[in-house]
Amino acid sequence: MSTTTGTPRGVLFQWAGILPLTERTPRLTLGEGDTPLVRSAALEGLCGLDELWFKLESCNPTGSFKDRGMVVAVAKAVEAGAKAIMCASTGNTSASAAAYAARCGIECFVLVPGGKVAAGKMAQAVAFGSRILEVEGNFDQALNAARELTEKHPVALVNSVNPHRIAGQKTAAFEICEALGDAPDVLAIPVGNAGNITAYWKGFCECTELGRASGHPRMMGFQAAGAAPIVHGAPIEQPQTVATAIRIGNPASWQGATAARDESGGLIAAVTDEEILEAYELLARREGLFVEPASAAGVAGLLRLGREGRTRGGRAVAILTGNGLKDPDTAAAQYSPDITRAKATVEGVERALGW
Ligand code: F0G
Repeated sequence: MSTTTGTPRGVLFQWAGILPLTERTPRLTLGEGDTPLVRSAALEGLCGLDELWFKLESCNPTGSFKDRGMVVAVAKAVEAGAKAIMCASTGNTSASAAAYAARCGIECFVLVPGGKVAAGKMAQAVAFGSRILEVEGNFDQALNAARELTEKHPVALVNSVNPHRIAGQKTAAFEICEALGDAPDVLAIPVGNAGNITAYWKGFCECTELGRASGHPRMMGFQAAGAAPIVHGAPIEQPQTVATAIRIGNPASWQGATAARDESGGLIAAVTDEEILEAYELLARREGLFVEPASAAGVAGLLRLGREGRTRGGRAVAILTGNGLKDPDTAAAQYSPDITRAKATVEGVERALGW
């Protein structure tokens, strides 16, 4: 895909200078990256912030932040001669891997926890023609299997334990510094397998080193209360949360997440499913932003800190990681739809509305 003028869109084109590319790396793109940074209309004050901005990672081609890192991981896999890729996933990684594999004409195997992946994400994995393995177990077990399988068979692992995923993902931090002219004071982000918080921290550190930012944000990661191993300091055997994307009990990038927290003077805290759904609804009803439940976790955390008077003003960016359309079942369960039947005439609609 290319724009009619200038450089083609996509992470490999816009951020080549900070990525591990060679002349042999295929310049793969689905137009990912360069996502909007939108100022909050209503939640800023509730969070006790001077400024709150939302990074709409839901605007990536497959509807989640995963595309930024996946485009690099898949391009590097193809460069290395891979004919197939594999990932374990709670749904978004698999949708993204499947899309880029389809684009490259390589095979994609996805291992997903049976019955725990949102409908829209399954539809994507199916549509892109990936080979779907529904495993009897959770994400953590699926990832362990994928790690071993990809050592044993000629298949490239594209989970975020693959450093190319982190390299691509860090570009979002660069975009934020560019858009705001500096790093924000706070970055609020949901934490599942912890690749994303690790990548943002790497990105912000590089921005400071390169003079693109005068300092770095305090990194504030939020896990779901039923899946908060980092908060508890121990893996969770049976993670549970409405936010299925972050239903993870033993994050692969645990160290990266705690390093981001400690080096930035930030925090990693848990938010309940009730708080996640409250933020999910506020984002939709007050901001016009329909995100999936996991994406609301960062905002839920900021709302909590705001209520507790702990945000101390300043400028925060919340990462909205995935599109609400991914998970229509949670939307249906959350809202009792206000739908009235009417005849398809002016009179019919007026009567139905009581006008
Ligand atoms: N938000 C969404 C919408 C996600 O899909 C994920 C992770 C996260 C947040 C957390 O990011 O894992 O880097 O800490 N989804 C992975 C997947 C696990 O398989 O799609 P993380």
